[in-house]
Amino acid sequence: MLSREDNNRLTQVGPDTPLGRMMRRYWHPIATSAELPKPDCKPMRAKLLGQTFVAFRDTSGKVGVMDELCTHRGASMALGRVEDGGIRCIYHGWKFSVDGTILDMPNNADSTFKDRLKAPAYPVVEVSGLIWTYIGDANKKPPFRRFAYDEVPDSNRILFRVNTSANFFQMWEGGTDSSHVGILHSNLTRPGWLKENHGETALEVNDMVSDAWDDMSPQLDIENTAFGFHYASIRKIGGPQARNNVRLVPLFEPYGRVIQFPDFFTTVYDVPMDDENTATYLIDASFSRKLDLQERLKRSGMTEERFYKDNTFVANWDNSYWQDRDAMEKRKNWSGFKGITQEDAVISTSMGPIYDRTQEHLVAADAAVVRLRKRLMDSINLNEKGEDPIGLHLQDMTNVIGFDVDMPDGKIWREYAHQQGLHKGEK
Ligand code: FES
Ligand SMILES: [Fe+2]
Repeated sequence: MLSREDNNRLTQVGPDTPLGRMMRRYWHPIATSAELPKPDCKPMRAKLLGQTFVAFRDTSGKVGVMDELCTHRGASMALGRVEDGGIRCIYHGWKFSVDGTILDMPNNADSTFKDRLKAPAYPVVEVSGLIWTYIGDANKKPPFRRFAYDEVPDSNRILFRVNTSANFFQMWEGGTDSSHVGILHSNLTRPGWLKENHGETALEVNDMVSDAWDDMSPQLDIENTAFGFHYASIRKIGGPQARNNVRLVPLFEPYGRVIQFPDFFTTVYDVPMDDENTATYLIDASFSRKLDLQERLKRSGMTEERFYKDNTFVANWDNSYWQDRDAMEKRKNWSGFKGITQEDAVISTSMGPIYDRTQEHLVAADAAVVRLRKRLMDSINLNEKGEDPIGLHLQDMTNVIGFDVDMPDGKIWREYAHQQGLHKGEK
């Protein structure tokens, strides 16, 4: 349970809030490369941390991110014309390059004026299908980070974006909370449920099923790390070859996590668009095989138009979230929804746009959620004191991945992590 004051501190992202100031110390994804698919395509109105920007790809393919409203008299640049080497406001024709230089000012005869002014433009890095920007103090720009998914061939990586009308922190808490996976996502993950209700064949339909999910109250072993923290959830697998399954999940500031599956891993960023809307970027990557985006979208429940329109989750109480009560009654569907992403979006939005944590009742299974709050609060407090938030200067994040392995004794997971060259825990 949190006080109202702490709840506000962990959820509000505007420029004049403690969290907003801390978040502005990091680089952020603002769009996918697919959202700006080709030179001179339609510019995009992009929200990040409660501010609105225009993102565009110029005729040479370079991406620019600028404040949305024109430096002259405030028309939206998202309505602008993308022209040779820049973007032109349709109101009076001022034209800007990706770095904010004013290239043309047709309504002003004084040709030196444009050389004395610049539009607010922000640094951009485009890599592995994501467009990142930095909107904080230019003198404090941290190094750009490299992640494990940057290390695989392009054909072994897919990514997609989902916008959800919920505060980023309830999305991130949901992603941190291991104990819901074998329950909310029973349709896809829990063999006990599948066997009982669909017959054995359903077990073959996807690569997310694990015997481990039948243990619904995992033991959590949590450690701080330089980037935030990680936890091992240890589940007991019964039967003739009784053993433990250990799943290591790294959580990194300011909103990232990595989920490991048998032969691929998903890196997730829950990026605040504003206090009540989140852009979640999911990047799947594999060191061993090619991945297929359409198949993934289908499995996530994202191809159903009643639920998703233009990458945005649109189901709500007006239509009872289209929950399939009939399938639930017939025991053919546990949650009444299809797909993990869909189920997570339903739950997060059902909590209201900003979840009020003053009324909750936590149990031992929520230990990772409690640590997540603590680490985010630590980062905010460090930044407010004039220090760097957690992990800001870690440039190489390529060893920040998890694992999902069965071992006879779950307690030896640290040795296993060490052998794999993964990140270390610290007290
Ligand atoms: S408002 Fe953009 S050129 Fe005048
Ligand atoms: Fe989930």
